[in-house]
Amino acid sequence: MTFDRSVKIAPSILSADFADFGREIQAIEAQGADWVHVDVMDGHFVPNLTFGPPAVAAFRKHVKTVMDVHLMIAPVDPYIEAFANAGADIITAHIEAGPHIHRTLQAIRATGKKAGVALNPGTPASAVQHLLDLTDLVCVMTVNPGFGGQKFIDMTGKVADLRAMIGDRPVHIEIDGGVDPTTAPALIKAGADVLVAGSAVFKGGSVDHPEVYGANMKAIRDAIKASA
Ligand code: DX5
Ligand code: ZN
Repeated sequence: MTFDRSVKIAPSILSADFADFGREIQAIEAQGADWVHVDVMDGHFVPNLTFGPPAVAAFRKHVKTVMDVHLMIAPVDPYIEAFANAGADIITAHIEAGPHIHRTLQAIRATGKKAGVALNPGTPASAVQHLLDLTDLVCVMTVNPGFGGQKFIDMTGKVADLRAMIGDRPVHIEIDGGVDPTTAPALIKAGADVLVAGSAVFKGGSVDHPEVYGANMKAIRDAIKASA
């Protein structure tokens, strides 16, 4: 994975057909997805349950781009190796998931994977001040984690703060939650470069009508271009 700050769209398969992940992943990548965002939920850190390392290993067989694994679990550390072995390219942990985020990021990097840190809406940008040389991605949650299709919570100010703090370090700023053509432009202007989108990409489409996924992603990219 070489670093560049070009705009990337990372569809979240939380909004995909849970009975057809392989074909859904192939469809979104064929339609232009830059990354594939995989939302792991444990029913403890967030009030929802999705999938674990065996499922992520199965997804890996279909992901040709970048598998961006978002761990909404606590504790994180006991599962890092399993998700690394499952084939994640990026493993993102929530700063709120435990008292030792610095050690968690060290442990993720020790597996050879990229390390991400996620901030819930209530967590300030300053929380990552001492982590910027230990992380490859800061994920700014623009919903309270646990579900797709929720209302966007504006975090543009936090994104701008992070962009200033990161400087020229090779650290992505990822936005996660409620991203669509109306919310995306301001986030990119503020300094984000990776946009996770679940419902805004999958809505109205299917593996039999993947062109809708492409049109939905194009609508996000066009809205960003139009606002530049
Ligand atoms: C929420 C997840 C998000 C979610 C995004 O806890 O982390 O990735 O799937 O879904 P939308 O884009 O529908 O808000
Ligand atoms: Zn996510």
